[in-house]
Amino acid sequence: MIIGVPKEIYPGERRVALVPLVVPNLIKSGFEIVIETGAGSEAGCPDAFYVEKGAKIVPTRADVFKTADIITQVLCYGANDLTGKADIALLRKDQILIGFLRPLGSLEVVQQIAATGAMAFCVELMPRTTRAQAMDALSTMASINGYKAVLVAADTLPRILPMMTTAAGTVTPARVLILGVGVAGLQAIATAKRLGAVVSAYDLRPAVKEQVQSLGGRFVELPLEAKDAQDARGYATAQGEEFYKRQRELLGKVVAEQDIVITTAVIPGKKAPILVTADMVKDMVPGSVILDLAAERGGNCELTKSGETIVQHGVTIIGCINLASTAPYHASQLYARNLTNFLLHIVKDQKLALNLDDEIMRDTLLTRSGEIANARVREFFSLPALTAPGKA
Ligand code: NAI
Repeated sequence: MIIGVPKEIYPGERRVALVPLVVPNLIKSGFEIVIETGAGSEAGCPDAFYVEKGAKIVPTRADVFKTADIITQVLCYGANDLTGKADIALLRKDQILIGFLRPLGSLEVVQQIAATGAMAFCVELMPRTTRAQAMDALSTMASINGYKAVLVAADTLPRILPMMTTAAGTVTPARVLILGVGVAGLQAIATAKRLGAVVSAYDLRPAVKEQVQSLGGRFVELPLEAKDAQDARGYATAQGEEFYKRQRELLGKVVAEQDIVITTAVIPGKKAPILVTADMVKDMVPGSVILDLAAERGGNCELTKSGETIVQHGVTIIGCINLASTAPYHASQLYARNLTNFLLHIVKDQKLALNLDDEIMRDTLLTRSGEIANARVREFFSLPALTAPGKA
């Protein structure tokens, strides 16, 4: 089977789906690899590096789609809502597409992808199980997001993060608060600690308290209990407006004491909850920084503008989107490893070994034979269930 890697076309995107490092492993398993010229150049992977490892370079995006049985991308149409639509005309029946597709974003877009007849596998829907861990691209990108969030916020803050003793006196360490302690939040805690900040963190899932403490952070306990805080997949569940209101009241004092607040709280398929209101921002010390990793999903701060950095009441609010793309070398390397593990899982003896009893394939399969084939996505968009779960 031929795996194709087109150049990413989302504006500003610097990652690439496969890096030269994984090419020998894929070739050993019988795959051929075609790369659009320049696809890896922004990620530190010039064409020559791919050729050295045995991949072929082709001149255009259309050549990749024409030649390949499997298209691997970072942001496919869906996740790339700005320029991704052009790929619809290039996809063909039974071609396999793998990448970020934002499956709970727009029904119309998922239907357009389905209508091409392509078999799209969506990395966001990877189950959070031990078996799937090595293929979990959402987690690898979240780790990079959490790390970069602290660096960007620290660089914006007019203070330094660590305590510093000098002949001119001692500087006290900066205070950093992380709201939402999933994969990105944990990495943000670890990074802020390494930079010498005093770190505290809060999550509505009480299960994370120990994880925060094990990284040297202080867990902020609020006299507030979330109802069924965690679903079976380990994700936070949406709470009622009353809960969020009370949460904001209780968080106000904690937020006011911080130099940096990094927010990461999201609920799959829903708008992100507001954890920091405009009034809370007003109470922060001028010069403080809020970095909102949930900006793409509406933001955790009431004032966040997605994709923009603004200053309100002297506080800088960074509405980051696609932060992982700013570390394209390692983001691509980790993503390529995730994809390679997935490819070796779904293709056996150079044939697609589609098995819908396998949770990894069933959960990630988004479209097949012209239909939306994913039970969770169908349910989310209130489409009638397919006769056999997950089957088209
Ligand atoms: P996420 O990106 O969906 O959400 C980030 C964090 O925000 C979560 O910890 C969530 O509890 C929190 N949050 C949501 N609403 C909140 C609110 N109102 N107030 C405070 N916090 C709020 O999370 P992510 O990183 O995808 O992780 C979700 C879960 O999946 C975690 O338990 C994580 O440990 C687990 N996981 C398991 C894996 C595996 O077993 N292979 C792999 C990756 C994650």
